Amino acid sequence: MPRIIVLIATLCCALDLSAAQREPRHGDDGIVATRSYFASVVGASILRGGGNAVDAAVAAGFALAVTHPSAGNLGGGGFMVIRMADGTAITNDHREKAPAAASRDMYLDDEGEVVEGLSTRSHLAVGVPGTVAGLLDALEKYGTMSRKEVIQPAIVLARNGFVLPRDLALAFERRKDQFARYPASAEVFTNEGEPYTAGELFVQHDLARTLERIRRRGRDGFYKGKTADLLVAEMERGGGLITHQDLEDYMSVWREPLRGTYRGHEIVSMPPPSSGGALLIQMLNMIEPYDVSTMGFGSADTIHLMIEAERRAYADRAEHLGDPDFYPVPMARLTDKDYARSRFEDFDPNKASLSSDIGPGTTPVKESPDTTHMSVIDGEGNAVAYTTTLNLSYGSKIVAAGTGMLLNNEMDDFSSKDNTPNAFGLLGREANAIAPGKRMLSSMTPTIVVKDGEPMLVTGSPGGSTIITTTLQVIVNVIDHDMDVSQAVGAPRFHHQWQPNRIIYEPFGISPDTLTGLRERGHTEWVLMPFGRGIGDANSVMRTGDGLKGASDPRNAGAAVGYTSDRGRRASR
Ligand code: DON
Repeated sequence: MPRIIVLIATLCCALDLSAAQREPRHGDDGIVATRSYFASVVGASILRGGGNAVDAAVAAGFALAVTHPSAGNLGGGGFMVIRMADGTAITNDHREKAPAAASRDMYLDDEGEVVEGLSTRSHLAVGVPGTVAGLLDALEKYGTMSRKEVIQPAIVLARNGFVLPRDLALAFERRKDQFARYPASAEVFTNEGEPYTAGELFVQHDLARTLERIRRRGRDGFYKGKTADLLVAEMERGGGLITHQDLEDYMSVWREPLRGTYRGHEIVSMPPPSSGGALLIQMLNMIEPYDVSTMGFGSADTIHLMIEAERRAYADRAEHLGDPDFYPVPMARLTDKDYARSRFEDFDPNKASLSSDIGPGTTPVKESPDTTHMSVIDGEGNAVAYTTTLNLSYGSKIVAAGTGMLLNNEMDDFSSKDNTPNAFGLLGREANAIAPGKRMLSSMTPTIVVKDGEPMLVTGSPGGSTIITTTLQVIVNVIDHDMDVSQAVGAPRFHHQWQPNRIIYEPFGISPDTLTGLRERGHTEWVLMPFGRGIGDANSVMRTGDGLKGASDPRNAGAAVGYTSDRGRRASR
């Protein structure tokens, strides 16, 4: 990325220009929406330099590891859904894996109880990272640019630094005690022990060197050699399990996407080990027979319908979903329209069902979560939906000393014990039990909606268990409520996940009379999100009759950046 672009991007952040806009961003020849202004600029510059949507997504993915460290990563994992302009659709699964020495009861004490914090705040929480393998595999198979071209912008951002935006400076300060437990983490996220302040230059030399090793040696620059040595040394120091062999054995997996349909649109989404695509398609199948458009956005009828679909789909998640390489997930049935209709036969438009009739209870989310989603469409019609994560915000909070990179705490997404909630209150059983080499179940839902053979909407979100319902709402907002991408992404959200039997919703998200109507139907448990903490972060892009449009989620300080070539600009004059 030319230095001038880094400077401009840096200046925009320093001035705290609000990147999230009411009007969607426009591009004739490409559009990139991510959680980080810098990463979106990197993606758009790659498109401008002749790269395709996969090149842009991979470059933005590496950039996010530098500029959005709570979720962008080298030490975590993700899922990428790719649809090329010729109609080929494929997914890359680079979810973390349990190390070979992991075992089913590794988080239980002698009494068989879950030891608090072991799967989230310890070296044992770290799964074998998949991001670097996945990004490089995607680039090699579907990209057009060299490894150097797509990694270089991230190296420049790490090596030269960028001006710290306010939200990031505050996030570092809020977590300073957690980082202080690990000297390498404190070294990265404090300025010699003092909190960084907004506007300071944030330079990451160790991370730049790690990226340079990947640029030079590809996957061997991460899974072997110095980076691997440093990561394994960190594990040995802190009692973690990941070995050199675990790293060498790690492979990303190409999987067929899950496909469904909704009112004449094709839904192309992520299969297991994410539960995202399966639940999304199941919920869309359940609500399709109802005239959601006439029922209206935000009406008690629509919210009731969607909550009941969510309740049933999440109950299936706990029982049936896990890594398909280890457990026979009944996928054809879960995504079948007849199955959804039979599952919804007991739906009563006037009365809430009881989750307690279906299964056991659980506890609420305790820690602030973080994952990140980006969406890209290029001028040829290639599209990428990409969600990546360290699991909770800043993952395990452990920087592997000498690498500058944070390690995930994804092991918490396994079911440590039957019917015992994880950090997102999600329950699981046999299908998602821990086993060596197994991938933990996810909710990430990168999705491409196709209309008349063209990608119409690219969407997805972070938010743990709320990812799937956020993605559902964005899609319903566009298809049923005819919203543009900014409206669809910005509209207030709610969420239900079967257990706990309660609905969370955003401030001003549900009017008092609607709430009364829903209470009268039996939806009695409501949790209002604190002001400023929204549900999801659905950076999305859309193809319209008036070119490509993108929106970063107004709940956070991301950005959509469009690209219009000189050819496009001349044509529109
Ligand atoms: O894979 C999953 O479902 C979770 N590890 C995602 C975590 C997440 O979304 C946190 N973000 N806000």
